Amino acid sequence: MRLVVVSNRVTMPERGEKVAAGGLAVALRSALEKHGGLWFGWSGTTSAEPSSRVEPVRLGNVSYAVVDLTEAERQSYYLGFSNRALWPLMHYRLGLTDFDRSDYAGYLGVNRRFAKLLVPQLKPDDVIWIHDYHLIPLAAELRRRGVTNRIGYFHHIPWPSAEVFGALPFSATLISTMTAYDLVGMQTQTDADNLIGGLVALRGAHRDGERVKAGPRETVVRPFPIGIDVESFRKLAVASVRAATQPIRATTGPLGGRKLVIGVDRLDYSKGIVQRLEAFGQFLRSHPEHRGNVGLLQIAPPSRSDVPEYAELDRQSDEVAGRLNAALGEFDWTPIRVVKKAYSRSALAGFYRRAQVGLVTPMRDGMNLVAKEYIAAQNPEDPGVLVLSRFAGAAHQMGEALIVNPYDTHEVAEAIRTALAMPQSERVRRFERLYATIAASDIGWWTSRYLAALTGAEAADKLAP
Ligand code: UDP
Ligand code: G6P
Repeated sequence: MRLVVVSNRVTMPERGEKVAAGGLAVALRSALEKHGGLWFGWSGTTSAEPSSRVEPVRLGNVSYAVVDLTEAERQSYYLGFSNRALWPLMHYRLGLTDFDRSDYAGYLGVNRRFAKLLVPQLKPDDVIWIHDYHLIPLAAELRRRGVTNRIGYFHHIPWPSAEVFGALPFSATLISTMTAYDLVGMQTQTDADNLIGGLVALRGAHRDGERVKAGPRETVVRPFPIGIDVESFRKLAVASVRAATQPIRATTGPLGGRKLVIGVDRLDYSKGIVQRLEAFGQFLRSHPEHRGNVGLLQIAPPSRSDVPEYAELDRQSDEVAGRLNAALGEFDWTPIRVVKKAYSRSALAGFYRRAQVGLVTPMRDGMNLVAKEYIAAQNPEDPGVLVLSRFAGAAHQMGEALIVNPYDTHEVAEAIRTALAMPQSERVRRFERLYATIAASDIGWWTSRYLAALTGAEAADKLAP
């Protein structure tokens, strides 16, 4: 039995790519390195002619089969329908959702082409695991071509209620394609309930607990909260903290007793970066005794910059950081540093360990791996404090963080103050519980639990590269 993973974003180690900023690539790399198998998806590049066949390249125990898109496909399928319609809709941002019929046609077209190119690669006992919103209709396309293998899907981002999802034109058609899967994994029980509710409301599906049926197949919809490789991230943090501290010392002046608050997010409006900067400004205004003693380092690698809403966020975050630094900074102290580039995982691990506060305040997020990485990286004897949005999937598991409403600037500002003032004994108590939770539900747990559900309990161990 072989594992076949399909996702839009694929990262190949031999290209020297540091794992792309994005939870999906980080998690799938970990999962595939353990089980081996085939990873199929977009090459990340465009070419004049659409690929008519794929040739897998084997690296270690993983074979990579990647497909180029044409520029028109990138525009319609990736930027258009996936990231201007589905992404905002799934993150409850109807006001930003921009539906275009030709983009939708491009989305369906790429899913058809992926199916056509994948079918010749498949073997009868392959287990197929498709990932994320770019590829919702892929199983239906594979079934149409006669594929009878077990096919699972995992949705890395939130799934909104039927009221919100139903605003998307063709929502009933699109949601129906979910019933081509044997197993659909969601980040939280809320997401699972929303999807099932949508299938019932928009498609007239029959529900029996976690089982839903609208055609010949019964689909199980269940939460599988995604995790990280806790132990290797912890080791990375121990190894990197010295290297991370040196540059911080050099660039922000003598740290002395200066404390660090850290945010790490793709530059995406779902992450609440601008609201977070405002909250940090509010904290400094309300608690002037902290001025000069603490700084916010926000790492924000650019993402999907061709989408206008992302370009606007890029401008807006510069504007807000500039305004707050000018108003609150001193000649020898800059309160906010926004760095718009991607850092390696080891550099991030060192930054997390060095930071007294991890500020993870998305307006809405499927899970948020940064929250888990921040905890994994802490020094158990003197850990930092996680401030976490209640609208991140991670909040369903990480209740010992300081849970905040990211829409409430005052509340976030006060949480920063509380975190910085928290006694060591309370920090240790909270950290120990959080660490135990993320270690018990790490990436290995996620993968084997999902694959066991998709294949039948023992079979997950029998996956061969
Ligand atoms: N990341 C990274 N380099 C960066 C910024 C982020 O490698 O400069 C990684 C980060 O460590 C995390 C992932 O990108 O593993 C982001 O995942 P998350 O679930 O937090 O958010 P997503 O980007 O998937 O929405
Ligand atoms: C989120 C999505 C992933 C995506 C990642 C980075 O994690 O769930 O599917 O790969 O963001 O975004 P990008 O558009 O660069 O792939």
